Amino acid sequence: MEKKENYLPILIESLIFGKNSDYPLYIKSGDNYILYRAKALIFSQNDALRLKNNGVGHLYIKGEDKEKYDDDIMEHMESIVNSTDLNLEEKAVKIYIYSKVYAEYLITTGNLKDNQENVKKTIETTIDYLLISEFAFMNLLNLSDYDYNEVSHGINVSIYAMSLANRLGFTNKISLFEIGLSGLIHDIGKLKFPRALLSKRDLGVEELNEIQKHPIYSKEIALQNDMRNNDVINGILDHHEASNGSGYPFGKIEEDISTYGKILIIANKFDSLTRNRPYRIKLSMPDALNQMNLNNDLYNNAFLREFTLLMSKKIS
Ligand SMILES: [Fe+2]
Repeated sequence: MEKKENYLPILIESLIFGKNSDYPLYIKSGDNYILYRAKALIFSQNDALRLKNNGVGHLYIKGEDKEKYDDDIMEHMESIVNSTDLNLEEKAVKIYIYSKVYAEYLITTGNLKDNQENVKKTIETTIDYLLISEFAFMNLLNLSDYDYNEVSHGINVSIYAMSLANRLGFTNKISLFEIGLSGLIHDIGKLKFPRALLSKRDLGVEELNEIQKHPIYSKEIALQNDMRNNDVINGILDHHEASNGSGYPFGKIEEDISTYGKILIIANKFDSLTRNRPYRIKLSMPDALNQMNLNNDLYNNAFLREFTLLMSKKIS
């Protein structure tokens, strides 16, 4: 019997234009995979546009070629931030796409072990990009999908958290990396719940209690992935703990909440308020900042002030 091939979808925009990749690309037609481009042939931006115009968002590679594809991207990523051929927006587009490729796998499976290096490189590249200018982060955020999904939420929280941390004086790339990683994985504990529960409107008391345990589950999944960094673990655990003690899962008060947790609650709240959800229309950025400042007893006030300044300069 013929061996069943394993094909993986790849985002068209993630391909490196003008490069003759060392693996063939396939297109899906019904249940079949048809050769689209033989290996060593160049894939151009025009090819990408043509596919897009025909409503094709993904090409496919064989599972056995995944390593080559990752190597290509890793090598390419090294050159993005310092490239003289790309402007700030074009760099943001590339970085956002690669964040999506690697964060998607991490956030939807909770498996960090399998693509640890790729996730690390993606966050490090994002940090280098953010450090170009104080407002570089807005170029990245402008690319996030209009509607909320857990992958773009993870990426956005990560970007907001790193930008706020940098403004608070975290200039050390190791700390920025830890904060970015905490932002990406803060909600992975939600993988424990059935999807229907997460989008349900009227939750019962029991269901709400269970959902409010998700930071504990996020911590458990992080530990299962051999993540032993206490700052990261505590940040994830505290991302819904409010300064006035009204948060969850433990109702900690400000002095007991970790620094990364105090950053994450702000990043998380702001992204949630400014995205459409099944049960709520999004707020504008100024309205979200206003609402957070009206409820400022939930947050570390110095952190909230800096976040407000960071965002208001951009949106005013
Ligand atoms: Fe959460």
